[in-house]
Amino acid sequence: MLTLGFETSCDETACAVVRDGRHVLSNAIATQTELHEGYGGVVPEIAGRAHVERIIPVLRKALADAGVSASEIDAVAVGHRPGLIGSLLVGVSAAKAAALALGVPLVGVDHVQAHLLAGTLDIDHDPPMPALGLVVSGGHTAMYLVPSPIAAQRLGTTRDDAIGEAYDKAAAILGLPYPGGPRLDALAQHPLADPWAAQFPVSRLEDGSLDFSFSGLKTAVLYAVRGVPTRPGRSPSAPPPPPAPPPLTEARVRDLAASFQRAACHAIMLKLGRALEALAEGGIHCQSILAGGGVTANSRLRKELAALAGERSLELRLPKMEYCLDNAAMIAALGARRLMAGHADELTLRAHPSSDIPVYTVL
Ligand code: KG4
Ligand code: ZN
Repeated sequence: MLTLGFETSCDETACAVVRDGRHVLSNAIATQTELHEGYGGVVPEIAGRAHVERIIPVLRKALADAGVSASEIDAVAVGHRPGLIGSLLVGVSAAKAAALALGVPLVGVDHVQAHLLAGTLDIDHDPPMPALGLVVSGGHTAMYLVPSPIAAQRLGTTRDDAIGEAYDKAAAILGLPYPGGPRLDALAQHPLADPWAAQFPVSRLEDGSLDFSFSGLKTAVLYAVRGVPTRPGRSPSAPPPPPAPPPLTEARVRDLAASFQRAACHAIMLKLGRALEALAEGGIHCQSILAGGGVTANSRLRKELAALAGERSLELRLPKMEYCLDNAAMIAALGARRLMAGHADELTLRAHPSSDIPVYTVL
């Protein structure tokens, strides 16, 4: 079965052709980074307009790269939630038009749930389930119980920034260009970078919480670079203000990058450990870890996930680098799996800004 996938939830216009819900024949992506970098973040109106301009050329490329004609497509899948509404609408409209024109079924999928399947692409078999799912990206940071490839229940999510957003903001504070996540990662890997140079906070939240928080870490980086703000009109008897931070030399930037990376990854690993234990106490023994999202491209996170999986004898599925960031192959894969399980949508399918993955409450 050949599934054509469409992805336009944020700032990547993507189309892919996937065979049998797992083998990627093509994965065409037009990135919009150059359109947004001057603003330091994605501008929704610019993103929506750029999707309109790019969706047809990207569709043609996906079919050409796969070496298939449109008439060979058996189904159309689209990421219809969550995301920027003006962006989602472009992909949803294109997918509906394609499904109608080709006379094939249409299926809408949740973008975040699709990230969980990115590590199953190009591999013949699924990992043993239930799996513990992790999505770490610029817009999302959450853990899931994944009982099957087409089901997910949310265990915890971020209460403020997503980890990728924290990476991008910390990188901007360190003077690195947008999007800073990969650049910060590269600096943190420098052999002379000291991950213990700054003692950045690792948010734990309340006992047993499976949620994340990254805003404190981001603020700590800000203070390490610009100094801790002092209140005007301090009384002379107040303790002396903290010393001014050292100058932001190249060495200091890479030390702060490495320290940030250590704290950010530690926060993720801490919550994964908690989730595995909490689920086991409730009689659910995860067999594998499924991780996805842009930040799974991170060098340190990949190593720490591999170490955790090794210690706990879990199978780890990390996406190949090309499937970490937003792509349509993961959308086509989840869509095909849903269709094979009997789920299809009407041409009245709507775009939604939010996810509707149910919440799993660990008692
Ligand atoms: O999954 P994605 O393409 O978009 C969302 O759905 O949000 O993720 C993009 C995010 C950006 O914040 C980017 O800085 C981050 O992933 N990212 C990284 C790395 N590569 C991409 N963060 C840390 N280390 C990396 N190597
Ligand atoms: Zn994403």
